[in-house]
Amino acid sequence: IEETLVLIKPDGVARSLSGEILRRIEAKGYSIVDIRMLQAERSLLAEHYAEHEGKPFYEPLVEFMESGPIVAVRVAGNRVIEGFRSLAGTTDPTTAAPGTIRGDLARDWGLKVQQNLVHGSDSPESAERELQLWFS
Ligand code: GTP
Ligand code: MG
Repeated sequence: IEETLVLIKPDGVARSLSGEILRRIEAKGYSIVDIRMLQAERSLLAEHYAEHEGKPFYEPLVEFMESGPIVAVRVAGNRVIEGFRSLAGTTDPTTAAPGTIRGDLARDWGLKVQQNLVHGSDSPESAERELQLWFS
């Protein structure tokens, strides 16, 4: 069975949307197989976002992810990596389709980094690497 890493980012936790986001994952039919809440260390975030190092939004992104607790979720199901990305919607919440987590529940607040509520692994290789990082 395929597994993916979902993160409910600090904006999702602060806005009390964790339950709504988990509800959508379960309602779709995926299984929550592990879950933890943590305050992420910079070293963990640096590894998690290594592919974005050097990009203009990198520093604001890491600062945002350090700004409060995160809920990390191990989610399982056939084609769940692709399926959760579809549930989440596209990166920019302004244009993410209604019906998606980002499209329904997130917006542009005029900040330096897009606060888009969730992260989902983007490939089997990323999922394996990220699950190891967040659940080791
Ligand atoms: P994740 O699931 O969080 O990885 O989102 P994603 O895969 O849709 O986006 P990506 O991995 O490309 O970027 C990671 C995060 O950086 C995004 O979720 C946004 O919070 C932020 N980000 C990405 N691109 C931009 C951008 O062009 N501008 C700004 N301000 N933030 C960005
Ligand atoms: Mg990504």
